[in-house]
Amino acid sequence: MEVIILPGSKEIGALAADSIESLIRAKPDAVIGLATGSSPLPIYDELARRHDGDGLNFSQVRGFALDEYVGLPVGHYESYREVIRREFTNRVDVAPENVHGPDGSTGDVPGACQDYEDAIAAAGGIDLQILGVGTNGHIGFNEPGSSLASRTRIKTLAEQTRQDNARFFDHLDQVPHHVVTQGLGTIMDARHVVLVAFGAGKADAVRDFVEGPVTASCPASVLQFHPRATIIIDEAAAAKLAGARTYRHAFANKPAWQGV
Ligand code: F6R
Repeated sequence: MEVIILPGSKEIGALAADSIESLIRAKPDAVIGLATGSSPLPIYDELARRHDGDGLNFSQVRGFALDEYVGLPVGHYESYREVIRREFTNRVDVAPENVHGPDGSTGDVPGACQDYEDAIAAAGGIDLQILGVGTNGHIGFNEPGSSLASRTRIKTLAEQTRQDNARFFDHLDQVPHHVVTQGLGTIMDARHVVLVAFGAGKADAVRDFVEGPVTASCPASVLQFHPRATIIIDEAAAAKLAGARTYRHAFANKPAWQGV
């Protein structure tokens, strides 16, 4: 696990975008795992800027959403399919047919989840998975207690998560109780995971998953087992890390050829 501490969200977005840009330049049809929520927005802003300003080409890129609410009508403004369209794919030249999401509106949720796993495998697996982290340590919507080996499936949102996400809706009552999410095993299959977090509200979760025990009680801690996990956070999110000095030293002395 590589922990990189940067001054703020703009720098975090730029560094994560560097990683995505170098992947796409080496592999134009790269498969990217797309998170939603507020954390990835600086990445999407920066990628859109590089598309407009530098001609970064996404025309062959394929995308797989990390999760989706169950029960929101198709086309709902806060459905993650719509959020990804609005915040990222509509702003670059990703072909709409190359963007996939787990289906939260079907009558056959287990079948749709298996189809989603099959679609990721058929695409050759995810090259780079963008992640945020919940205040309770979830990644995707793998809430505390999730199997560390789980695959795409339905989950019940923790009340903490519903309250955290109520800011995207008019009222807490409108936040669905259920989601379909890539499992922790699905996320662990990605060849590179890039998790971004900023703000003091994430400091406990960051401390717990970076330096605490690997446990289903803190689902993001499974990333300690990932061979290539890049954790990019700001000073506030890093405030409770005992090893912050070591992480800063390692990044400052990182061989340039290693890239992000
Ligand atoms: C979103 C997702 C969640 C969020 C997490 C943090 O697709 O999978 O794990 O990344 O809830 O949300 P924000 O970024 O809004 O703090």
